[in-house]
Amino acid sequence: MNLRVKDVKEALLKSGVSPKVIDQLFKLGIDEVRYMTSSELVEKLKIDSKTARKILRAIGSTFVEIKPASEVIMHKKRLKIGVKEIDDLLGGGLEQGTLIELYGRPASGKTQMAMHITINARLDEKEGGLSTKVFYIDTERGFSPARIEEMCRFRRLDPQKIMDGILYVSAGSTHELFVAAERALDLIKDEGVGLIIVDSLLSPFRLEFQGIKELAPRQQAVKELMRILKRACEKDAIVFLTNQVVGRVGRGIETEKYRPAGGFVLGHIPNLVLLIRRLKGNRRLIRVVDSSYLEEGEAIFAIDKAGIVPVSPDW
Ligand SMILES: Nc1ncnc2c1ncn2[C@@H]1O[C@H](COP(=O)(O)OP(=O)(O)O)[C@@H](O)[C@H]1O
Ligand SMILES: [Mg+2]
Repeated sequence: MNLRVKDVKEALLKSGVSPKVIDQLFKLGIDEVRYMTSSELVEKLKIDSKTARKILRAIGSTFVEIKPASEVIMHKKRLKIGVKEIDDLLGGGLEQGTLIELYGRPASGKTQMAMHITINARLDEKEGGLSTKVFYIDTERGFSPARIEEMCRFRRLDPQKIMDGILYVSAGSTHELFVAAERALDLIKDEGVGLIIVDSLLSPFRLEFQGIKELAPRQQAVKELMRILKRACEKDAIVFLTNQVVGRVGRGIETEKYRPAGGFVLGHIPNLVLLIRRLKGNRRLIRVVDSSYLEEGEAIFAIDKAGIVPVSPDW
């Protein structure tokens, strides 16, 4: 019996949870139970809500680890975009262990950004990368190996080396998306995946849950998926989600006129919410919309054959 199992068992027994229920909990998997809400636990085990809360608190007590803040922050690596303006905006890059949402209209460059950071994650740390593998979950069949190859060629990177570390899955339905998200948790451990992409998060949900009547079950399903992805963050992976926009699509300054799909269900789950918008030519604007650790602000960049690049000086 490993230490954690022993600790959890002891904590549960001490709180007066019956051995039979403890057995059921271990069957479900403590890692699974740990992230359940008390009402979910009530439903799963047919127990009363007081017992459910007791269980969650007992399990929680064995996971709560108090340490100096310096240790929490110090070892987090950052994945650089490689465009100074954006990396400055992001406080040095995308931080390990965080969940990032990037939303914008079609053709704003969400998939381009996803593929660009996929390449960067493969690079060594001294080149701004994570030197880890990437798990790319594609719900819109937007991923293009030819485009990755082109970006690599223009950046003088070996496409084979980059591609070898990209684990790709096409998830056409919410069911496949759930399976993929669960697999992601194993891949972090088994394959050393450090970046998980979901491009895009809401599209299968929007296809399968239609109309106002299905809104509540849809929100519930999205929430469940987000909880799985949050667990990936706890294992220090970066989770990068793209999202479509809904609402009025207007002219001029668009942020107020449209919102990310799924709106309030994602709420404050992401640590960082970014908006991407198309400007003149190949230029794009990226804006920090919501963040627990960054100031609001924006940066301008361009998309060209090499991927995400600085705006050329002749602009
Ligand atoms: N090979 C390329 N070279 C230069 N720009 C490209 C290339 N491929 C795509 N783009 C730019 O990216 C846009 C598509 O972006 P994309 O990331 O697919 O949008 P989204 O995922 O937000 O719908 C194209 O309209 C084009 O401006
Ligand atoms: Mg796309």
